[in-house]
Amino acid sequence: MYSLNELEVIVKRCNRCPLSKTRTNVVFGEGNEESSIMFVGEGPGYHEDKMGRPFVGRSGELFDKILKAIDLTREDVYIANIVKCRPPNNRNPLKEECKSCIEFLRWQVKIINPDIIVCLGAVAARNIIQKDFRITKNRGIWYDRDKFNIMATYHPAAILRDVNKKKDAWEDFKSIKNMYNKINSEI
Ligand code: URA
Repeated sequence: MYSLNELEVIVKRCNRCPLSKTRTNVVFGEGNEESSIMFVGEGPGYHEDKMGRPFVGRSGELFDKILKAIDLTREDVYIANIVKCRPPNNRNPLKEECKSCIEFLRWQVKIINPDIIVCLGAVAARNIIQKDFRITKNRGIWYDRDKFNIMATYHPAAILRDVNKKKDAWEDFKSIKNMYNKINSEI
């Protein structure tokens, strides 16, 4: 079993897929390694690629605000992505790119061992919950997989594009906080 630091060194050297040729930085993920909750996005955007950190652009600003609204901070959670390198022009990552990168996420999950995994958006949900996941239809539902409680909600970028999604997203995050409180009171 690798430590998270050892895994990060490996991922930072990765050249398994063509995204490695166009990236500025690998965005491995960051946060509380002991956390009971892990958020998974799609992949780095422009700002994340420049800084090597997840969710630091406009989506990240909104994500921080949402966390604050449920009384959490980045220090309380761990944040990672399905792909660790930026897809050019912020296109969705291709199936093959997700397939070659998701092994790294599996390792991160093994090491961090969260109780809760939240998929931010359809790309994460389709790679983690179900291939044909419909985010508008199945967001907000808790899925029991092995020892994990998994839910998908809207990606912050989708909320920024369509304010009408805010209300449903807020319901999801309240449910996420309830699950987080429940699990942390059991520990
Ligand atoms: N969008 C994502 O899915 N992940 C990031 O890290 C930033 C934006």
